[in-house]
Amino acid sequence: MNYIPIGRARQIGSMLFTLHWFDSIGDASGRAYPYRMETYDGEAQLTAEEPEESEEPEAGEPLPLPVAELHLHIEGTLEPELIFALAERNGIELPYKDLEELRSRYEFTDLQSFLDLYYANMAVLQTEQDFADMTRAYLARAALAGVRHAEIMLDPQAHLSRGVSLETCVNGVASVLAGSREEFGISTLLIAAFLRDLTEESALEVLEQLLAMDAPIAGIGLDSAEVGNPPAKFERLFARAKDAGLHRIAHAGEEGPPSYIIDALDILEVERIDHGIRCMEDPELVERLVDELMPLTVCPLSNVRLRAVDTLAEHPLPAMLAAGLNVCVNSDDPAYFGGYVDDNFAQLQSVIGLSEFDCVRMAANSIRSSFASEERKAELLAELAASGH
Ligand code: HPA
Ligand code: ZN
Repeated sequence: MNYIPIGRARQIGSMLFTLHWFDSIGDASGRAYPYRMETYDGEAQLTAEEPEESEEPEAGEPLPLPVAELHLHIEGTLEPELIFALAERNGIELPYKDLEELRSRYEFTDLQSFLDLYYANMAVLQTEQDFADMTRAYLARAALAGVRHAEIMLDPQAHLSRGVSLETCVNGVASVLAGSREEFGISTLLIAAFLRDLTEESALEVLEQLLAMDAPIAGIGLDSAEVGNPPAKFERLFARAKDAGLHRIAHAGEEGPPSYIIDALDILEVERIDHGIRCMEDPELVERLVDELMPLTVCPLSNVRLRAVDTLAEHPLPAMLAAGLNVCVNSDDPAYFGGYVDDNFAQLQSVIGLSEFDCVRMAANSIRSSFASEERKAELLAELAASGH
């Protein structure tokens, strides 16, 4: 299978931004960062710089595999350039003097070392427009990666604790998701993720507020520091979500033991497990997950960057496929972990020799494991079948 080369995809991504934002904003020149602030109709907007050597994709270049992205934290799509642009727009002084210094912090030793930076960088997200710009930037890049359906997690508590309202973060993201199919060809759903290192009371309070404001959420998730915060801590939260007719997913078995996966299934009654790679330590659990066709949203580059596995070559994904698990490939926090979903596929192919057959199989798994309508799933499976992969 061939993909549009990564560098090329980035160029095309920048071109799309340029076209999209320049349409409404006009000329742009003389900026310090690829994103910059413009004042238009009294409102500050971001534009992206036109890449120097932008090119049209060559005729005959195969399109990326059409996939559903099921494990994506929207705050984890904040690229360094956008962090600086938003900081400038909002008059926020960052603790890094330039992009290089910020990038030098992207060396993680474990999940917590990443979470510290991930939460700190959220300081630049202040207004609805900021959340909308971040979401639009992700969708533009995801479209180039082949994403045709995305289920996007937002961490409302991480914004509430900084004094940013639920309306600001939810409406900012949702305003862009509402038009994502028309604008980017990507159907989307929003998932409110709860921080497991906070209390269940805090999560319940926020869930009630989301329900009271009729927030357009399709489900809830559970993320942040896993070890020491087992699923059982959130039994009432997940029962309330089920009662409210919401879908339920949880991170489990990323750093935490296989028992967390079992508890997420039995106590939280989740419909998907995010990560789940440590299930491979428990053959009985693997058998159960296979029997139940339980989706596992695996994020290979994330696992390497957060040291859940030592190298991509040692990633359990091939063994998971061989065991018959319902796995799919996702990007998690692509701005932090070295790539989007196409980059994950490309590295799986080049580093561990993942076959075309397995890539297509996981693309189909991602579509079938989504919470999209049966009609949308059928449409995407047909697109996959016709894609020539
Ligand atoms: N794991 C847990 N929590 C997270 C992650 C992750 O990879 N990304 C953002 N929040
Ligand atoms: Zn995650």
